[in-house]
Amino acid sequence: MKSRRKFIRNSLAGGALLGTAIHLEACSTSDQAETTEEKPSELPVVVSTWNNVKANEVAWGVLDSGGSALDAVEAGVKVPEADVNDRSVGYGGRPDRDGNVTLDACIMDHGSNCGSVAFLQHIKHPISVARKVMEDTPHVMLVGNGAFQFALENGFEKEDLLTDKSREEWEKWLQTSEYKPVINIEMHDTIGMLAIDQAGKLSGACTTSGAAYKMQGRVGDSPIIGAGLFVDGDIGAATATGLGEAVIKVAGSHLVVEMMRQGLHPVEACKAAVERVINKEPDHKNLQVGFLALNKHGEYGGYAIQKGYSYAVYERNGPHTDDSEFALK
Ligand code: GLY
Repeated sequence: MKSRRKFIRNSLAGGALLGTAIHLEACSTSDQAETTEEKPSELPVVVSTWNNVKANEVAWGVLDSGGSALDAVEAGVKVPEADVNDRSVGYGGRPDRDGNVTLDACIMDHGSNCGSVAFLQHIKHPISVARKVMEDTPHVMLVGNGAFQFALENGFEKEDLLTDKSREEWEKWLQTSEYKPVINIEMHDTIGMLAIDQAGKLSGACTTSGAAYKMQGRVGDSPIIGAGLFVDGDIGAATATGLGEAVIKVAGSHLVVEMMRQGLHPVEACKAAVERVINKEPDHKNLQVGFLALNKHGEYGGYAIQKGYSYAVYERNGPHTDDSEFALK
């Protein structure tokens, strides 16, 4: 937290940091002089999109007891996946326009190993299926019925994920069938979680039921390595939330990590990626995209197009939730 606040002061003092000049600004002599004063954060650290406080608590428990970042992020995101009240992830998630709950998830570790599932139905914990794809197959991504069959073969249980509440809402929606995601409500709950463990290893996980009332077969950014999530153990990790189509178009999480590779702090790396989305999306005033990043020093931060995006943090001095900086004032 301390280093993040200090960074924001530095960047405000530094003036414009957008576009191609951003790398030069961030690496300027004065900025370098200030950032070298900052000590790396104490490890471990876990961050996640939105107010996923309980998910962070579970992940922190793994990290604090010396567990791996990979185990931490899987355990953490399973919390909203199983939470019936979380309407955009896993069980209780809003269905597509035909009433099917279809889930997307991916996981990636420090060594660039990754696994992903998309358009997966009837399995409560897609993140664990994604990890199985990573660890037990020669592939990165399984989708649809193939992912479902793989899950069953690996002991996952077939479950009905459409709750009465989601069914009722969907039936009401059918009366108009108007596809119009609402900023920070229907697009707000994708959980992306990033962690660095006591050994300094990074991992990330991302899971969602996707956009409410989407077309059948629609897949968003969340299971796409490089879009919804990207980890480079030498640099840092990033994840995305919001309108997946806009994130995919700029390979958003990969872009954030590449910006950190250029020397940007996580907040500025996320800001640069948001600026890219804004430049590419004529309709950006009507959509939300938010990024979250964690670098290999344990520094973190987020940035979004619109007000209203927040992220949860758990570090040595305790848990907190931070409101993200945003572009459209
Ligand atoms: N960001 C989640 C989705 O668009 O599906």
